Amino acid sequence: MTKNSSILGFLVLLLYASVSYTYAEDTLSANHTIRYNETIVSPQETFELGFFSPGNTKNHYVGIWYKKRSYKTVVWVANRDTPLTNTSGELTLTLQGVLIVRDTTTGNITWSSANSSTMTSLMNPNPIGQLLDTGNFIVYDGINQENPIWQSFDCLSNTLLPGMKYGINLVTGVERHYISWKSDDDPASGEFTYGINISGYPQVFLMDGPNIKFRGGPWNGLRYTGYPNLRPNPIYNYTFVLNERQVYFSYDLINTSVLMRVVLHPNGTTERLLWTDDKQEWNLYLAPTSDRCDSYAICGSFGRCNIDTSPFCECLKGFEPKSPDQWMSADSSQGCQRIIPLDCGPGEGFNKYSNLKLPDTRGSWYNQTMTLLECEKKCKSNCSCTAYTHLNISGAGSGCLLWFGDLIDIRTYSENGDTLYIRMPPSELDLVENRTGSSVGIRVRVMVPVAFVVLAILISLYLFYHFKRKKQHQQGTPTNMYEHDTENTNGDEDLELPLFGLLTLLKATNNFSMNNKLGEGGFGPVYKVL
Ligand SMILES: *[C@@H]1O[C@H](CO)[C@@H](O)[C@H](O)[C@H]1NC(C)=O
Ligand SMILES: *[C@@H]1O[C@H](CO)[C@@H](O)[C@H](O)[C@H]1NC(C)=O
Ligand SMILES: *[C@@H]1O[C@H](CO)[C@@H](O)[C@H](O)[C@H]1NC(C)=O
Ligand SMILES: *[C@@H]1O[C@H](CO)[C@@H](O)[C@H](O)[C@H]1NC(C)=O
Ligand SMILES: *[C@@H]1O[C@H](CO)[C@@H](O)[C@H](O)[C@H]1NC(C)=O
Ligand SMILES: *[C@@H]1O[C@H](CO)[C@@H](O)[C@H](O)[C@H]1NC(C)=O
Ligand SMILES: *[C@@H]1O[C@H](CO)[C@@H](O)[C@H](O)[C@H]1NC(C)=O
Ligand SMILES: *[C@@H]1O[C@H](CO)[C@@H](O)[C@H](O)[C@H]1NC(C)=O
Ligand SMILES: *[C@@H]1O[C@H](CO)[C@@H](O)[C@H](O)[C@H]1NC(C)=O
Ligand SMILES: *[C@@H]1O[C@H](CO)[C@@H](O)[C@H](O)[C@H]1NC(C)=O
Ligand SMILES: *[C@@H]1O[C@H](CO)[C@@H](O)[C@H](O)[C@H]1NC(C)=O
Ligand SMILES: *[C@@H]1O[C@H](CO)[C@@H](O)[C@H](O)[C@H]1NC(C)=O
Repeated sequence: MTKNSSILGFLVLLLYASVSYTYAEDTLSANHTIRYNETIVSPQETFELGFFSPGNTKNHYVGIWYKKRSYKTVVWVANRDTPLTNTSGELTLTLQGVLIVRDTTTGNITWSSANSSTMTSLMNPNPIGQLLDTGNFIVYDGINQENPIWQSFDCLSNTLLPGMKYGINLVTGVERHYISWKSDDDPASGEFTYGINISGYPQVFLMDGPNIKFRGGPWNGLRYTGYPNLRPNPIYNYTFVLNERQVYFSYDLINTSVLMRVVLHPNGTTERLLWTDDKQEWNLYLAPTSDRCDSYAICGSFGRCNIDTSPFCECLKGFEPKSPDQWMSADSSQGCQRIIPLDCGPGEGFNKYSNLKLPDTRGSWYNQTMTLLECEKKCKSNCSCTAYTHLNISGAGSGCLLWFGDLIDIRTYSENGDTLYIRMPPSELDLVENRTGSSVGIRVRVMVPVAFVVLAILISLYLFYHFKRKKQHQQGTPTNMYEHDTENTNGDEDLELPLFGLLTLLKATNNFSMNNKLGEGGFGPVYKVL
């Protein structure tokens, strides 16, 4: 009984061993090659590596694709810019642990992994190349799989798979961004690149050659400011890491039984796609909501784009078009300028603007631990600082981000936007409610011209009333018109509001003193009566 079962067990083990041996071609040993019609397959047969020819081309490339899917979706290409023109190519793992693609008839090496990353490998006695079920092809010394000497995840193609990172190693300076294919049939490096720029506070950019196509902007602790729709979801989680050593973004699958990829298409659109087994096709998971407001700096400096208004460019409050004629003819590129310039006086403060895409942070300054109050002080103390905000809006908020000079590429969102505090001259300051322990008290918005107009109206009202009454009563004029108090003495019932004499008003408001001004309603300034 025991003997039988142990024999059975042995047979099962043998069968399993032979099966796993037959399918264990997920590795490439040192000094071995893969020819054009050979592949290696990841353990669970998710991915396959080998030679392929996209579309109708006669070019041959070494790449990685999803194995089981009816549609051969290539996620990584080795020799994308140096194709082989016939089937005599081969992929070899050298004894030094370097992968090379070469033409066997000439021996020419067309691609080598040694140049694709910072290789510090010396002689490895027995390097192994292995294709993992994540789609990562790693080369390791045969022992330490956790610390590969090379991995395909380190050299991005046009696809971001779960676990891949794009960003910059701040120690080595190695930068990883993804680059579109030239066309659906040509994996050569295309026009569009997507990655992080660390000038100022790091931001994500989609570049069209040397030009910015779209600015995803800085990470605000929860998402990129340019992606208000990026939020926690049941399929994947994501992280943005910024420290002294590195800055990167990556995502992982929460349910690892689904397939997901982010691809940068040859036309410059990025899509997050999810495989649906029922339909056997890739479906859009998160549609990139791209509209005209996503065009970089479309409204110029201090302008903001609002897709729900027409025209969609408007100046931020306190700003006016730099060239009104061009602005009227829907050319907003010149942007806006301050209605009242700054002079760095002590009365300057900040107005709060909500639900925005934060402006370009290239040239900005940041500190990850400062509070918002310290941030305001820091900005106020530097005359060239134009705006500040929290670096990280998660929780109670933390950190400080400062802008200097023009604020560029701002748009408004209906929700999930960020808050920005922009420096304003004293006369443009909003009446703000009590802010985080700020000792600013009540700020008043003073508009001298309006005050003057109101004064004029009051005088005319007085004169009008005065002469009307004079006509009615045919009496002599009061000895001093300023001493005349109209209050409840006229019997004119058509005036619903009590009308005060100008002198009374001047006295009560301390000659319309700015100190007595409370604020401004729809009808003009409101003053406090002593
Ligand atoms: C590597 O392969 C070549 C040719 O296939 C062979 O001559 C050589 O002995 C091999 N070297 C080792 C260390 O296996
Ligand atoms: C691969 O191609 C070679 C040469 O074209 C051929 O001899 C070999 O049988 C092919 N192998 C497979 C598995 O198709
Ligand atoms: C394959 O192409 C190379 C040039 O890329 C050429 O030198 C070589 O002769 C070709 N081999 C065959 C078998 O056609
Ligand atoms: C390929 O090898 C041949 C002969 O060795 C050489 O003339 C040619 O320039 C090489 N081509 C490339 C692209 O390196
Ligand atoms: C590595 O690639 C760069 C450009 O991508 C090139 O300038 C350099 O010569 C290459 N180095 C080697 C050793 O091939
Ligand atoms: C980042 O942006 C700056 C300013 O536009 C530019 O000079 C720099 O080359 C960019 N860096 C990268 C890695 O694209
Ligand atoms: C996703 O969540 C898992 C489990 O909590 C965690 O191990 C992983 O690091 C997370 N990935 C990212 C990119 O945040
Ligand atoms: C994971 O996804 C698969 C396929 O969509 C689904 O059948 C399964 O229920 C999911 N598992 C969890 C824990 O959500
Ligand atoms: C870009 O290409 C992708 C894939 O071919 C397509 O789904 C998308 O609609 C295209 N976008 C535009 C704006 O042409
Ligand atoms: C950030 O601000 C904190 C608190 O003001 C300060 O202690 C720290 O040195 C600052 N860090 C940098 C890099 O400026
Ligand atoms: C103000 O900030 C700018 C930009 O960071 C810097 O160059 C300048 O030295 C600062 N001035 C003062 C007085 O701190
Ligand atoms: C204003 O803020 C201070 C400090 O945070 C607080 O003590 C005070 O009660 C607040 N006043 C009002 C009217 O909210």
